[in-house]
Amino acid sequence: MRTTEVMRAVVVRTPGGPEALDLETLPRPVPGPRQLRVRVHASALNRTDMLQRAGGYVLPPDAASPLLGVEVAGVVEAVGEAVREWVPGQRVFGLVNGGGYAEACLMEEGMAVPIPEGWSFVEAAATPEAYCTAHESLLELGGLREGQSVLVHAGGSGIGTACIQVARAVGARVFFTVGSEEKHRRCLGLGAEAGVVRTQADFAAAVLEWTHGRGVDVIEDFVGGAALERNLRALCFGGSLLLVGLLDGLRGDADLKQVVLRRLQIKGMALRPLSLDEKVAVTKRFRERWLPELVAGRVRPVIDSTFPLERVRDAHRHMESNASFGKIILEL
Ligand SMILES: NC(=O)c1ccc[n+]([C@@H]2O[C@H](COP(=O)([O-])OP(=O)(O)OC[C@H]3O[C@@H](n4cnc5c(N)ncnc54)[C@H](OP(=O)(O)O)[C@@H]3O)[C@@H](O)[C@H]2O)c1
Repeated sequence: MRTTEVMRAVVVRTPGGPEALDLETLPRPVPGPRQLRVRVHASALNRTDMLQRAGGYVLPPDAASPLLGVEVAGVVEAVGEAVREWVPGQRVFGLVNGGGYAEACLMEEGMAVPIPEGWSFVEAAATPEAYCTAHESLLELGGLREGQSVLVHAGGSGIGTACIQVARAVGARVFFTVGSEEKHRRCLGLGAEAGVVRTQADFAAAVLEWTHGRGVDVIEDFVGGAALERNLRALCFGGSLLLVGLLDGLRGDADLKQVVLRRLQIKGMALRPLSLDEKVAVTKRFRERWLPELVAGRVRPVIDSTFPLERVRDAHRHMESNASFGKIILEL
């Protein structure tokens, strides 16, 4: 095999902790008719990667690769025969259906976005999952608009840092929860109005105080079961709880009378199980609504740290320590 036909990639032979991640040499993937093969230069970590590494994630049927990694930035190195918009040598970034932790990765042509002039691969890789998730949850699902209020849980997470900025950009009041004083300070720096350190205060009581007893219109929730009762308490009449992650509990206990009498809405959101057409639409909305804001610097990717591919185990340990603020990126 010629050297260009193989690649280094992170594989998980036996699901487990970060030590389950190993570097191996694999064949480079061959693009289908409407796919690009991207020489990956930066690939962002996401919490879903931890779940997949541990064996707790069922891959969607359209997964292009069983390898970890759902967002990358790099250079097009080959295109399928039906691809018209892209040519080898172009710098692209975007969501991928797995396979991002590798030197080469397949990307659907409709999910590729040109990397703006002057952006690094690291900045580009830090952007799509965070801004697509923030847009799809807060704006498409939650209908958040100017003058409303939102509580963003895990405000210092990769997704949370984008949610705070997206919500501010539409003119909403933003509250948050975090795990440390340092993250609290940094979330205020992103434009949020107030927040609590989750281990030190009841966030529902704090929200009711900040909103003079009314509650928030929308909650961006990554916590799940353990926060359900407090989340319902923190919503205003008719408010929406957006379940976007389940970091603490798949099951919750709550007084459902609250949901009925106060006309609350509980809505779920996941990007990965969407069809290809829906993911292309998600990319289009990101490109139209948030790429100009990112290029203008009105919102920005928040980058916690970068690790070389060889240190992927350390990168996973860092994410699982809950110490990161913003995105963790692998450089290749
Ligand atoms: N539905 C979707 O399409 C979609 C897409 C992308 C991400 N997500 C979800 O979004 C969430 C954030 O993902 P990410 O990649 O941005 O993660 P991340 O950067 O690793 O941040 C996660 C943060 O959550 C907080 N946290 C961890 N365990 C917690 C717990 N038990 N209770 C409360 N907070 C906890 C920690 O911050 P503090 O200690 O500061 O609180 C941690 O740093 C995840 O739940 C992920 O599954 C969903």
